[in-house]
Formats: sequence, structure tokens, C-alpha cells
Amino acid sequence: MPAPFPTPEKAWWKEASIYQIYPASFCDSNGTGTGDLAGITSKLDYIKGLGVKCIWLCPIYESPQVDLGYDISDYKSIHSPYGTLDNFETLLKETHARGMKLIMDLVVNHCSDQHAWFKAARSSKTDPKRDWFYWKKGVVDSESGKLREPNNWRSVFGGSAWTYDEKTEEYFLRLFCPEQPDLNWENKEVREAVYETMRWWLDKGVDGFRMDVINLISKTDGLPDAKVVDHTQWTQPPFEFCANGPRVHEFLQEMNREVLSKYDCLTVGEMPFSHDTQLYIPYTLPKNNELQMVFQFEIADMDGEPESPMRARKWTLSTLKEIIGRWQVDMIAAGGWNSLYLENHDQARSITRLCSDAPEHRAIAGKLLAILHSSLSGTQYIFQGQELAQINVPRSWGEEEYKDIATRNYWNSVLEERRSKTGEENPDMSDILAQCRQKSRDNARTPMQWSPTPNAGFTTSASPWMRLHDDALNADHFQTWNVETQSADPNSCLNFWKTMIKLRGENQVLIYGNFTLLSPSDETIFAYTRQLEDQVALVVMNFSAEPTTYTIPTEVEGLEGARLLVGNAEGEGKIGEGSREVALKAWEGRIYLL
Ligand code: GLC
Repeated sequence: MPAPFPTPEKAWWKEASIYQIYPASFCDSNGTGTGDLAGITSKLDYIKGLGVKCIWLCPIYESPQVDLGYDISDYKSIHSPYGTLDNFETLLKETHARGMKLIMDLVVNHCSDQHAWFKAARSSKTDPKRDWFYWKKGVVDSESGKLREPNNWRSVFGGSAWTYDEKTEEYFLRLFCPEQPDLNWENKEVREAVYETMRWWLDKGVDGFRMDVINLISKTDGLPDAKVVDHTQWTQPPFEFCANGPRVHEFLQEMNREVLSKYDCLTVGEMPFSHDTQLYIPYTLPKNNELQMVFQFEIADMDGEPESPMRARKWTLSTLKEIIGRWQVDMIAAGGWNSLYLENHDQARSITRLCSDAPEHRAIAGKLLAILHSSLSGTQYIFQGQELAQINVPRSWGEEEYKDIATRNYWNSVLEERRSKTGEENPDMSDILAQCRQKSRDNARTPMQWSPTPNAGFTTSASPWMRLHDDALNADHFQTWNVETQSADPNSCLNFWKTMIKLRGENQVLIYGNFTLLSPSDETIFAYTRQLEDQVALVVMNFSAEPTTYTIPTEVEGLEGARLLVGNAEGEGKIGEGSREVALKAWEGRIYLL
């Protein structure tokens, strides 16, 4: 075995499993068709029963919901369909009463254009809040003579990252949609307003924050034109000048000094747009006093085209292994800490993406991913429905079922392009529909399935805000893919997740052990060891729909005494006596303690 890295310092938040709730789709308590806070409160015993220690609540603040709550118009009030501040206080109290913590989504790279701050800023060039946002004059295009945007930055949701304001005749920056103006963190008053908001929630008793695209808060001075990498369009990905920018560490250290250090809280920063472990390690190093961990996007980005993430691209198991292995080793060797996720409200479902969602494979694949996820170093985040082996929306759904703004924008831009190219009102869009089924964020946002009843017990309304998965309607399926049925079945994916969360808590080698990847170029088997002092765990997983036999490499010692800790298929799971061979069924995975 290679020489181990120093064992990470232990902490409750490193050992905790965290459950992510997307409020609109979790549980509707009052028959409106939209999930709400009282609905979440009513399911706290279920959440506790999973064994998780903390809940991450996606945005619940007042919002016009252009980007489903990530466009906030008042940071201190609740989106009324979700309930009231009183409902929130009850949820928090009841969460704490069950020994769990609750973290909020902090969305402060941008706010809504309906926020009082932006309304003031927009009212005149001399308004005191004008500088709270990025305003610039347009540029006269040398070729066309027409006014165009101040630079070539592309929005994450497509098109230019600038919107023209008729009244004051300047453009404002918004890296996402026009209704999400970017806050100018260079302005100290902005930072103070953010810190004040954070204190307000922490003083209420919340236990920390997941910080939305927090690596975008510092932009390069002067907002220079981005390098041209896409020759088909004028706009270009702007991230070299706005992600992990020049003052981001300074701002986060200030936030830590001013707010975080004064509370016992959990912090995780969402940080897309780079895959460089060395860039992200400093955010999480305890001595830097910034954040505890970050969400990096390398697995999330693995199966999408870099310039157009809605376009799926092929991936290989060896790539996935390399990505996971690099983060496992680099972060821990440097003294930082990982956060682990395979799903969230922005990603397609992991079984569909990484394994097979065919009915005969779905449950075992869900369990295989639970083995992978629970046997890595980092704080693990589980997205609602992941525990039920939820999969992407059915292939038969039409484009009208997709609600997400990123998906809608993509659809509309391709449609427009094809209309102008072909002159047809209804050009063929079947390839784009197939992409939506694979990559749309809506795949994660179908309502939670609670019981084998109409609308799966999510709502009593006849018109839920988003269509339920056909699992909840189709007689062949709706008996299986819900909480009630799976709770009663000892072999369900749900009960397997509970087992994995428990085993992870009981076997610290799975949380803190050093990671060594085995057989890196094998395209079928994902295997590794974890080592913590004299404890060694061996994880072997068959990432294919065919049975296979894996020969454990000779670098792994101590096989004679191997004890099966857990597996996702029936059988004794013995390593052959005197041999190094393990026979694995389709999508079978096992963890041994050596
Ligand atoms: C984050 C959120 C995503 C949102 C975006 C803009 O990536 O997770 O849902 O659309 O930020 O706030």
C-alpha cells in the first residue's frame, strides 16, 4: 500500500450526510400543487429516518421564480406559496428537535431585478444604489455601426450576459437571465448588506449556508472581452474573467471574519466553471478561513459538451475514475475537504447518466451508486428522490413538460435557428427533445413520490406545478418507486441507502481513509481501497450490465481475512479462497473490510 497522507482532522460536518430539498417538488401540504414549508415539516421524521444529520433547503425566499427561486426579490421574506416566516420557524424548530441541522441557500452573486436594490439602481444613474450592480455603456460596432453590448460575455443560460436598460441607456451585467442582475461585490455596501442578511438568518438559528455560484463574486477589473473559443457566435464563455476572480478569496475571508467565524455553521460553496483541484483547494483549507468545502463540477460536466452543456457527450468509466481519484487524493493530501454529490436540482438523475435506468437494472444501479457515494472521502449530499432510485423523465414526454429556464432558452434558440434556416414553422426537433431527456435540469425536479396513490401523495391538487414522473401513474411502476412501498421492502433502494448511511457512520475508514485507485484503465470495474491507520476497506463495483469477474491486483494485501461489509446483490460475496477473483453480477458492488 502507498504511504498514507495525514489523516484529516475529524469534524461532525465531515461525517454528516446531508439531504437536499427542492421545496416546490417535495411535499404539498395544502393542495395548491406546489410543495411548501409545512409539507417539509410533515416529512421530517422520514428524513431523520434516513440517518442524515442536516438538511439543505433550496431557496425559499420571495422571488418572481424566473429561475425557480434563484432570483430573490427579498432575502428576508418567504415566497408566499411556500408559507410564512412562522412556517419557517416551525420547520427549523422541528428540525432541531430531531437532532438535525438546517442550512439555507445563499444566492448573492445576483438578486432578482424585482429586488428593491435593483429597482433603486435602475431608477437613475445617480441613485446611491446604482453602483451596487454592474452598469456599462454600449459600444458602437465598427462593422454594423449599431450599438452593441459592452463586451462579448455569454450568459450561462445562453445569449449575451448584458441587458439594455432603456431608461438610463446603459447595459447591466447578468451572468444568468435578464431578471438576475449581478451584484457588484467591489462595492463595500453590497458586501455589508449580504453579511447583514446572513447574520439575520444565523441569528434565527439556521446552521449554515450552501452558497450559490459563490466563485463568481469577483470579476476582473474592466470586464475585458473573453477569448474567442467559439467561432460560431459573437458571445464567448466569460469565465476566465469572472470565475475564481482576483478578489474572491479576499471577499470570502472577509465574510468569514465578519460573519461565519462568529457562528458554529456549515458552509459549502457552489463553484462551477473550472476543474482544477489546485484552484479549489485554497477555498477549503482551514488556515485560510474561507469555506469548509466546495461543490466542484467535474463529474457534472463530464457528459455534456463544454460550450453547450445541454448537448450530451460520451464519457468513459476510466474518465469518471480519474476524476474521482484526483479529487480524493489532491484535496486530502493538501489538507482540504471534499463535498460529494451525484445529483442535485441542476443535474439529470445519476442512474440514467451513469448506469442504466432500464426497469430491470434501475434498483441495483441505484444501490451501486449508493455504494460509490458512501465510500468516498467528503461530506455527502443526497438529493431528494435519489434514495428512491429516481430516474430521468420518460422519453415520451413532449417539450411542453419542460419548465426550466435554461432548458427553455436552449430549446427556443435552436428552434429559432432552425426556423430561419429551413423556413419551416415546425422543423424537426426530435434530437433536441432527446437531449432534454438526457440533460435537462427538469429531470431532477419532478415531484417527490411518497405513496402508491394519485399524484404519488405529493399533492391533492389535480394540477401539480410540474408533471409527476410516469412512475407515479403507470400501473407497472407506481407500486415500486415511492417512499411508502420502498419503506416496507427490506431490499429496496431506499432501505439500502439507509444501510449505507449507517455503515458510513460506523466505519470511519470510509470517511477519512486514504484513497487508492485500482486498475485505472479498466472500463468495467471501478475499484479502490480506503485506508485509515490499520483499517483497510476494499470497494469493487461492476459498472456494466454484464456479469464479470475481477482479479484484485496484487498490491492489495490481506485478502485472506476479507469480510464482506455490504453488497447490493444477493449471495455470499466471498473472495475465492486462495484466489484474487471476485465474480460480480450486472451493476453489482461490494465493500470488504480487510
Ligand atoms: C446555481 C443554482 C442554479 C441556478 C444558478 C443561478 O447554479 O444551483 O439552480 O440557476 O445558480 O442562480
